[in-house]
Amino acid sequence: MKAEILKMLKEADDHISGQQLCEQFQVSRTAVWKVVNQLKEEGYQVEAVRNKGYRIIESPDVLTREELSVQIGDATRWAGQEIVCFTETDSTNVRARKLGENGAAHGTLVVAEQQTAGRGRRGRGWESPAGSSIYMSLLLRPEFLPNKAPMLTIVMAYSVATALREQTGLDFRIKWPNDIVLNGKKVVGILTEMSTEIEYINHVVIGVGINVNTEAFPEEICATATSIRLESGKTWRRAELIAAILRQFEVQYERFVKEEDLAYLREAYDAVLVNCNREVRILGEKDGYRAVALGIDDQGELLVRKEDGTVTSVYAGEVSVRGIYGYV
Ligand code: BTN
Repeated sequence: MKAEILKMLKEADDHISGQQLCEQFQVSRTAVWKVVNQLKEEGYQVEAVRNKGYRIIESPDVLTREELSVQIGDATRWAGQEIVCFTETDSTNVRARKLGENGAAHGTLVVAEQQTAGRGRRGRGWESPAGSSIYMSLLLRPEFLPNKAPMLTIVMAYSVATALREQTGLDFRIKWPNDIVLNGKKVVGILTEMSTEIEYINHVVIGVGINVNTEAFPEEICATATSIRLESGKTWRRAELIAAILRQFEVQYERFVKEEDLAYLREAYDAVLVNCNREVRILGEKDGYRAVALGIDDQGELLVRKEDGTVTSVYAGEVSVRGIYGYV
């Protein structure tokens, strides 16, 4: 009921009387009053005017189930229609996996304000302090074969970059396969994990970490990491960004499920690829080598032109790509 009251108050142009809320939700005045007080405690500025009712004047940047479900609304059919929120948890990817093992629905969204054991790629950790970032994981139950699943990371990277570009007007770019950078520094990390049988996917979890309103980073990463706030000089409402990402991802995922490869996405993905047509270093094979990045192929591998002129594809599981002079 709290989510419905919040939705009604947020969507109203004017005050809504306590009586109206009681009738709409078939509850007592005390119950309505309790919900309004909870909202105030969470940071919503609720104006209460005698004989007129309640009006929300300002919403806080909170990641509660109610705020997220108001933001997502019925703009998606399955992405984020089930939401699980934590103020603190070990890792949203771990939580989503457990939910997956216990039968949670395709599209279940897990969000945390803080992670105590945030996971990054290649066994690294992910700094996850409270209150300023997005830590979210989406549980998926695809029906295609397990070998297609790594392409979902590319689909998510494209969806996140596109949604953030639309919402903020900033020039988010993808560093293949799935880091997102802003002005040459990393702002989003994506970690896809899955549980499979030989010919069958039990579930996939795609975790997304976004530095949204972070004001400073630990010394070890401050040369390569940034936040949307640091690059734009503005703070952003995280629930709105999450909703925009889910809307975008649902569209892209459904297209991918139909096509089962990335031919449809190549042109759009390459258009936001930060290294496209630039010289990069391919790391992972002994000493690594220099090449020019040309864009992705239908399977999401990176096509590169080596110094001897031959074109080859590199697979994200085996190599990583760096700029010639640094991270990008
Ligand atoms: C990377 O190394 O670039 C991937 C980082 C992924 C971090 C996110 S935060 C939400 C989700 N939960 C985790 O433990 N990791 C992912």
